[in-house]
Amino acid sequence: MDINNGRPYLGFGLGLRTEHYHHVLEQKPDIDWFEIISENYMVAGGKPKYFLHAIREHYPMVMHGVSLSIGSSDPLDINYLKSLRSLIAEVQPEWVSDHLCWTSAHGINTHDLMPLPYTEEAINHVVERVQQAQEFLGRPILLENVSSYVTYKHSVISEWEFFNEIVARSGCLMLLDINNIYVSSRNHNFDPLRYIDSVDKEKVFQFHLAGHSDYGDYVIDTHDHPVVESVWSLYRYAIEHLGAVSTMIERDDQIPPFEELEAELNYARGIASEFLPQTNAQFQSSCSNKVSRASSCQS
Ligand SMILES: [Fe+2]
Repeated sequence: MDINNGRPYLGFGLGLRTEHYHHVLEQKPDIDWFEIISENYMVAGGKPKYFLHAIREHYPMVMHGVSLSIGSSDPLDINYLKSLRSLIAEVQPEWVSDHLCWTSAHGINTHDLMPLPYTEEAINHVVERVQQAQEFLGRPILLENVSSYVTYKHSVISEWEFFNEIVARSGCLMLLDINNIYVSSRNHNFDPLRYIDSVDKEKVFQFHLAGHSDYGDYVIDTHDHPVVESVWSLYRYAIEHLGAVSTMIERDDQIPPFEELEAELNYARGIASEFLPQTNAQFQSSCSNKVSRASSCQS
């Protein structure tokens, strides 16, 4: 659906988690779309694949990866890209994302999403690799801002300037994690509103919302709590300033019953409707054109 000057809009989604497979398939909850973790389905057959295909028949999906390591100094992992391309062909997602970070170096995977130095050298390096990945996959990718706990003394520009430059030069798009902006703003003492104000609005295709752990002097992006009020406030500001952006709740640990995440997602819908009443109306009117995602079009 396009309600935002050419920027596609999916509405309100959730991360698909194994704990909820049966519920989603049997109850067909009123969720507009699901995000899958790509690496969880890079296997032939098996139970996850069965549920993936069964649920895909009823919902639009986007794919989110954690292993592209776009900022690494190692060569891009062609086997990983081949697996990703195969999964894209199977799932036919609305879009594919990963993180603006590095996860591996000298062949060793840290399994962490490590930030980059914000330098011209790093921009050139990442842009070249994004273009290689996009060429291989035959489509633009979305990159997500990661939360960070350290900075590099080599950095010469802000994170948002770094992000904007990479997007502008490579042709990739933005997945803005509102919680990550909040977490990093607390850890590095910057104004999170300035981040929102500074990103290239037309390039923001998706929002993540998540919970974190607040230790006072520092904040850790744990994804094991409900979204906190300060992040809801930032989301409110983001929707007001960036317009209709597809939004989802990302919970990766201490997975609650599906209904709890649904309630959080409805809270996000409520915030968005304060500023964008047309999103709900236009979403409803578009349902007749959609695939067999019957339940979400009936409410
Ligand atoms: Fe995220």
